[in-house]
Amino acid sequence: MSILVTGGAGYIGSHTCVELLRNGLELVIVDNLSNSSLESINRVRKVTGKGFPFYEIDIRDKDGLKSVFSENKIDAVVHLAGFKSVGESVQIPLHYYHNNISGTLTLCDVMKTFGVKKLVFSSSATVYGNTESVPLVEDTPLGATNPYGRTKWMLEEIFRDLFISDNEWSIALLRYFNPIGAHESSLIGEDPNGTPNNLTPYITQVAIGKLNKLRIFGNDYETPDGTGIRDYIHVVDLAQGHLKALSKVVSTTGIEAYNLGTGKGYSVLEVVSAFEKVSGKTIPYEIVERRAGDIAKCYSDPSKANHELKWRAEKGLREMLEDAWRWQENNPNGYATVNNKPLQIFTRS
Ligand code: NAD
Ligand code: WQD
Repeated sequence: MSILVTGGAGYIGSHTCVELLRNGLELVIVDNLSNSSLESINRVRKVTGKGFPFYEIDIRDKDGLKSVFSENKIDAVVHLAGFKSVGESVQIPLHYYHNNISGTLTLCDVMKTFGVKKLVFSSSATVYGNTESVPLVEDTPLGATNPYGRTKWMLEEIFRDLFISDNEWSIALLRYFNPIGAHESSLIGEDPNGTPNNLTPYITQVAIGKLNKLRIFGNDYETPDGTGIRDYIHVVDLAQGHLKALSKVVSTTGIEAYNLGTGKGYSVLEVVSAFEKVSGKTIPYEIVERRAGDIAKCYSDPSKANHELKWRAEKGLREMLEDAWRWQENNPNGYATVNNKPLQIFTRS
């Protein structure tokens, strides 16, 4: 079976590609490298020892996508391409709506043209808005607090309309909780641009000396230690969720949302303390104001994915942080420092 992965050079995409390749699937990867580097594609090849075509294409380029579908047999699509920064989406909402929504519409048009109606989509726990009725189950009413979140929510609704119009489609909406960690090889991992927004890359950059101290956004939440609680999930567990979701979508039709989380929440202080244990480093921190838009607690009830996808997160917080730290230590500047020979790249002139 041959799978098109959009956004395959990104953080979750690269780990997903590794898991799909390891399980015997053939891949075609499309990414415009707007938030990633070609080196991550090289590393996917290195980790798996497998080759695949890579197209440096924007998913809004309809003719470009059509040539990908013409030149390759595609059975299903794993669609991860999109912008993901909450803060940036507030500053430049039109970029987010254009990229995430127009890009997905273009992709669906081309899939339809080529009769490919099997899709696994990167949604997010952000579609639960600011509800605090934890643990979150899939039928919790949806909402959004920022343009990024609204793109995911809108896309989920668009996919539902698509299925209503044509029930040959089969779509899995994967609602990721907080993916962290890296591949155990430390060849692939998270490589944020500039100062990280997310907790774990911020901590690892403090530990390696690139940042002075962590700022903890509030310790007056209604949680046992006052800091925010999140459901951190190892990115490799998450990647394996895509494999299970693919098995489901190719064997059925319909549209279903699945929480991909561990079901267990940890506070910011618990993460800091666990990181200090695995790394042997002290993480200096100060408590600052709450970050706008943050909620106290967000963790999943993953039972639907456990039962229907036969998927379960296996790795605990310690392993997530060990792998995140190994990646950071072995790649202090992310993918930036290496200069391997690139794979063959297909671009449109
Ligand atoms: P990422 O930025 O590392 O990966 C996204 C990839 O998509 C990048 O390689 C980028 O270059 C590519 N891309 C963006 N726009 C494109 C376009 N128009 N055409 C082609 N390629 C394009 O982000 P990630 O963390 O790997 O996230 C992957 C997906 O998962 C995103 O859709 C994101 O919204 C979603 N998600 C991420 C998280 C998270 O915490 N990382 C949580 C929930 C959902
Ligand atoms: C985790 C906890 C912060 C940084 C975001 C998006 C969400 C999803 C995943 C895509 C919170 C605290 C953080 C720091 C801190 N992405 N924190 N100091 O906010 O749960 O989710 O990424 O869909 O949409 O909103 O993740 O890692 O930013 O924060 O104290 O420097 O760490 O307040 O409690 P978040 P995060």
